[in-house]
Amino acid sequence: MKNILVTGGAGFIGSAFVRRMVSKHPEYAIVVFDKMTYAGNTDNLIPVSKSQNFQLVQGDIADREAVRSAFESYGIDTVVNFAAETHVDRSILSPDAFIYSNVVGVHILLESAQKHGIERFLHVSTDEVYGDIEGDHLSVEDDPFKPNSPYAASKAGGDLMVRAYHVTHGLNTVVTRGSNTFGPYQYPEKLIPFFITEALEDRPLPVYGDGLQMRDWLHVDDHAGGVETVLLKGKAGEAYNIAGENQEHNIDVIRLMLKLLNKPETLIKYVPDREGHDRRYGMKCDKLKALGWEREYNQFEPAVEKTIAWYKENEWWWRKIKTGEYLEYYKQQYAARLAAASS
Ligand code: TYD
Repeated sequence: MKNILVTGGAGFIGSAFVRRMVSKHPEYAIVVFDKMTYAGNTDNLIPVSKSQNFQLVQGDIADREAVRSAFESYGIDTVVNFAAETHVDRSILSPDAFIYSNVVGVHILLESAQKHGIERFLHVSTDEVYGDIEGDHLSVEDDPFKPNSPYAASKAGGDLMVRAYHVTHGLNTVVTRGSNTFGPYQYPEKLIPFFITEALEDRPLPVYGDGLQMRDWLHVDDHAGGVETVLLKGKAGEAYNIAGENQEHNIDVIRLMLKLLNKPETLIKYVPDREGHDRRYGMKCDKLKALGWEREYNQFEPAVEKTIAWYKENEWWWRKIKTGEYLEYYKQQYAARLAAASS
């Protein structure tokens, strides 16, 4: 392993992985391959932009020619695929892009990897492939897939295609399935950065349904560390959960953010629920721990506090995002919901 193509490396989790690998592993050349959709942002890569072992190429994983050219130009021997459409609400409003990148794109990347004799292919998947979990069950890697949103179904499709390339073609693949991730540089459409940046401006916080849904929260640096561990030590053909082991009700996360921001709970607005909203995600990650992975962030409150401090100190980063396309999306997703809100 020498030359690593990190697809989606300008996004939230991808860029955290790139920043980590570029500084920790000067022995690898890191080539980011990113379509630069609304969520891909070169600002996320500023900390590594001048590093010797870093390159940025604009390209789409569903474009065979662009993938071939990147593989050949940089002598790529390893692929880490973060490229994906990721936001559940957008997958309900317009699912086409999800099928295109998360299913067709993954397939084209796999096919190209196989043709070019790629030595290792790591695919980044999600706990959402397991669907809503019942009782106090925690998902393990061999659990059946029961995706419920178009986003989750598209990720399950890509995840299974990776399996098929391993079994059918003998491609050296590994898959990671991460929990809900938070931290610096997260596009402010996801719960934590959306609510932090809205609360800083004293704007209403639209809580879907009763707010009692549960998510398992994982810091982005721990997610990136999990991907690194699986890349270096995972067994070919296997999948590994990356969990925060920190399940919280949405409303408790929201109240904690308001407390840390010193903002009133009157900002909370209960709005009509997301369609098909999963109640709970939670996973075991013993398999990853057996490879030696450990979390750096084991306490949720200080991790949220640090994240809030980052958004306060980096208004330049998110203020320019919350314009144009973002405002269009906001209107489509929230205008009618907020009009129907109960406090
Ligand atoms: P999100 O960050 O969209 O992640 P995911 O849907 O992939 O879990 O949402 C996290 C939780 O927060 C989820 O249960 C939906 C809820 N949520 C709201 O209540 N209001 C919002 O405006 C958003 C974006 C999310």
